[in-house]
Amino acid sequence: MSGTVVAIDGPAASGKSSTARKVAEELGFQHLDSGALYRGVTLVALELARVRGAGGGDPLAAVDPETILRSAEDRGLMLQPDGHGFSAYYAGEPVDDAIRSDQVTARVSAVSAVPVIREWINGRLRAMVRAGMDVVVDGRDIGTVVFPEAELKVFLTAAPQTRAARRLAQQGSSADRVAVAEEAERLAARDQADSTRSIAPLARAADAVELDTTELDFQEQVACIVALARSRGY
Ligand code: C5P
Repeated sequence: MSGTVVAIDGPAASGKSSTARKVAEELGFQHLDSGALYRGVTLVALELARVRGAGGGDPLAAVDPETILRSAEDRGLMLQPDGHGFSAYYAGEPVDDAIRSDQVTARVSAVSAVPVIREWINGRLRAMVRAGMDVVVDGRDIGTVVFPEAELKVFLTAAPQTRAARRLAQQGSSADRVAVAEEAERLAARDQADSTRSIAPLARAADAVELDTTELDFQEQVACIVALARSRGY
C-alpha cells in the first residue's frame, strides 16, 4: 500500500514548510519537511568536523559523506511524528533549533549537493510513503525527483524582498531596509546554489501548479492548496 503525496517545492523562505504543515493539518495528512533532513545531516557533518578539530570550515573537507551518514544512522538522526508534523532528533536530543542555526543554513546547500546524501534522504522519505502514510512533503525536488508520480504538485514562489521580510519576521529579527536587503542576498545565494547543482536541482515540475504568494496572506495560500487537493478528491 502506498500513501497519497502532495508535493510542495519552491525557493528558500517561500513559506513552504509553514504552509505544508497547515495544509497537512487541514487534509488530515502528515507534514514531511525534507529540508529538515538535509539540515540534520549538515548538523551531523558539522559536529563530526568539530570533533576532528576542523570546526568552522567546510565540513565536507574534513569528513567523507559515508562517515556522516553512518553517524546519522548509528546515532539516530530521525524525524519523529508530533501531531501533524515531525520533530528532528539526533542522539536522542531534539534538534529543531540547532538545524536552523546560521551555521547549518550556511553549509546545507553544499552538503545537499552530495549524491549519496540525497539517496539516503530520498530512501527515508519514500519508505514513509510506502508504509501507507498520506503526506504533504516540501522541498526542492519533491515533484521532480522524489515523488514524480504525486498527483498534486505545487511550486510556491514569492518576490525576493517579500521572502526576506517574512523570514526575518519569522526569526523575530528587525526588518529594516538594510536587513531585508542582506537577507534577500543570502536567500538568493542559496537559491543559486540549489538551482544550479547537477543533481536534483530546485526546479518546477512541468505538471506543477505555480502559486505566487507575494500578494497572498498565509490563510489564503493554505486555502488555495487545500482547494486544489479537495478538487482531486483528497
Ligand atoms: O527548506 P529548507 O530551506 O529548510 O532547506 C534547506 C536546504 O536543504 C536547501 O537550501 C537545499 O540546499 C536543501 N534541500 C534540498 N532538497 C530538498 C529540500 C532541501 O536540496 N528536497
